[in-house]
Amino acid sequence: MTTFRSIEWIGHALKLLDQRKLPAETVYLEFTDYRDVADAIRQMVVRGAPAIGAAAAYGLALAAMYSDAQDVQALRRELEEAADVLRNSRPTAVNLFWAIDRVMKRAADPGLTTVDALRQAVLDEANAIAEEDIRANKAIGFNALPLVPDEAKILHHCNTGSLATVDYGTALGIIRIAYEQGKKVHAYLDETRPRLQGSRLSAWELNQLGIPHTVIVDGASGHVMRTIGIDLVVVGADRIAANGDTANKIGTYNLALAAHAHGVPFYVAAPTSTIDLSVKSGDDIPIEIRSPREMTHIGDIQLVPDGSPVLNFAFDVTPAKYITAIITEVGIAYPPFEESLPKLVAKAEEERRGHD
Ligand code: MRU
Repeated sequence: MTTFRSIEWIGHALKLLDQRKLPAETVYLEFTDYRDVADAIRQMVVRGAPAIGAAAAYGLALAAMYSDAQDVQALRRELEEAADVLRNSRPTAVNLFWAIDRVMKRAADPGLTTVDALRQAVLDEANAIAEEDIRANKAIGFNALPLVPDEAKILHHCNTGSLATVDYGTALGIIRIAYEQGKKVHAYLDETRPRLQGSRLSAWELNQLGIPHTVIVDGASGHVMRTIGIDLVVVGADRIAANGDTANKIGTYNLALAAHAHGVPFYVAAPTSTIDLSVKSGDDIPIEIRSPREMTHIGDIQLVPDGSPVLNFAFDVTPAKYITAIITEVGIAYPPFEESLPKLVAKAEEERRGHD
């Protein structure tokens, strides 16, 4: 059972588990101002593509709830301003933009003629995004079961679990569901420099769930494949282009190359909200470059001499040719992804309409 929530709406505020403090401290922060939510996304209090999408949606709910606007036109204008601020928090994960666009589309409904109705609609849409995320993640886990051998050594990068989503997780959710379904899994967790989402966050989650795991340094993945043997690699995604090229945490590409060299299947797990069909290939995905400080220091300890330049790419793009399959909530996409991904996106939209 997940004993924590990365993100939770508590009636008057958005509550976020401060992921910067884990695993040493479990601290929850409450937000009532959407600007602070944007900042929390930027500072990585909350991180992981689906989680930042849901957080941004609740940021809009806060903007609506705490607005003094007297009419729907004024409130819609304020929501546009809030949406711009939230859109500027992080550039790579498309779930952020997807969630904001979805809430704004709901807010534009001409049937919403009072301020109260508009406020409620925005909150309802944010809640729907959060609830759908949990459903999607569980479905991803079950869809992946046939791909996971009964005894499996699985290599994982970054954190894609309950912390990176509203609950359950995508790639880590696959490991969790396989374990809960009785498969003998052992997860090898890349520590994931520089912010150590693998060692700080994924290990914290698997520890609580009692799932066997071992943390390795990022550079060890090839050696682990060659010596211990890995049955599959599974990673998350921040944006998947129409051709299947996938942006994910820096180091994912190296892992895919190592998997390719060793004949290990390389799976990407993500909800269809991470697929961006408007982007043709990985070359068009914006890659976040973060502060050098993340690399040069851990806390107050300096790791790089003053004066040595560093370049802190937060994400990389894995070309589709190294991806065995993309596992989503509505099914598994195989190459050619140009054909399989649009079908899955259409199927997900159809199912969502069926739910409304
Ligand atoms: O910089 P982060 O920690 O937000 O990066 C997270 C990742 O790259 C995850 O793999 C991705 O968002 C998928 S989370 C289900």
